Amino acid sequence: MNARPFLHGPETEALIEALWLGQYGHSRLVEKFEHDIAEFLGVPDMVAVASGTDALHIALLAAEVGPGDEVVVPSQTYCATVQAILATGAQPRFIEINPATLCVEADDVLAAVTPATRVVLPVLYGGRAVDLSALTEVLDSRRITVIEDAAHAFGSVCGDKLVGARREALTCFSFGPIKNLTCGQGGGIVPRTREEAGRLRTLRALGIADSQRQRAQTTTYAVQQYGLRATMSALNAAIGRVQLRYFDAVAALRKSLWQSYADGLSGIGGVEVVDVDVARSVPFNCVVRLVHRDAAFHALRSRGIGVGVHYPPNHLQPAFARWRRSLPVTEESDRQIMSLPFHPAMSSEDVQRVVAAVRETALEAGTCAS
Ligand SMILES: Cc1ncc(COP(=O)(O)O)c(C=O)c1O
Repeated sequence: MNARPFLHGPETEALIEALWLGQYGHSRLVEKFEHDIAEFLGVPDMVAVASGTDALHIALLAAEVGPGDEVVVPSQTYCATVQAILATGAQPRFIEINPATLCVEADDVLAAVTPATRVVLPVLYGGRAVDLSALTEVLDSRRITVIEDAAHAFGSVCGDKLVGARREALTCFSFGPIKNLTCGQGGGIVPRTREEAGRLRTLRALGIADSQRQRAQTTTYAVQQYGLRATMSALNAAIGRVQLRYFDAVAALRKSLWQSYADGLSGIGGVEVVDVDVARSVPFNCVVRLVHRDAAFHALRSRGIGVGVHYPPNHLQPAFARWRRSLPVTEESDRQIMSLPFHPAMSSEDVQRVVAAVRETALEAGTCAS
């Protein structure tokens, strides 16, 4: 369903309207998108940016992260999380994950904190919320900000609120092409205060604090500080506003697809589904752990089934070698995890076909009885 709505009447009209308006940069449409998302989440405000990577970079800058600072982050994430940290001049301190969820646990986060830690950055892998509220007091006392990478987790729930609706963290979403909510490209940050929202807006607009309305009244503008060119295009906002109308249906489809995989794969020896807490999450993907991963990957690919590995660990990447340390749980996951095809346009027959092929690979590897 990701791209299909644009083939039909009102959705096509919304995009054509955005094209007709001719204001493709930051415009009222972007402000409307921000308002719609804030309303959906039940929060006062949301700041739209050009990508999820920009959302993380700008949130880190707003938390005054810079050279000499450390950011505690799982190695098990997309490299974008780490590049956003490096862009500020700070250093990543890679930590382990819980092998059952591929997310960090509060104890591991706390154990990794040093006097140089300025930010703790949990990744809501696969859409699963990470609840660090048990650490709020101790992190606050050390002036450490929690910035959550919720690129996968739009629509998921943490405690009794939607991810992004709790004030304990600065939440960063991606609205990229395959995300739970897509704008084509885009990202968003949920600020904790009005003042923080202002700082984020200045950072995304090249350090210019004046709004477009204010700028229309004067012959000049003031560049107040360092800033990025990271505003969202009105065209992306138009796509996001239409997708939001479909979000409940897409969320239900994603949950039901994930559950079909979990049901179909249960009982296949050597195959374990990584739990996403589907009752409370809008799953971004469906990941399995396989003892015969490499053989299964090649066998499924040769049958035209688009499996993948998300993600090769960052602490083993050449670009991040300076921060390499031993992370045995992450390294074992790296040998075992595989993402199955997962998108809301899939049918239950598609899922059954993938399940049958995974079963065959387990039979071939001898991990499962016929
Ligand atoms: C965990 C994670 N963080 C950050 C990002 C970056 O988002 P974007 O692609 O919108 O820059 C992604 C994108 O896939 C991601 O998966």
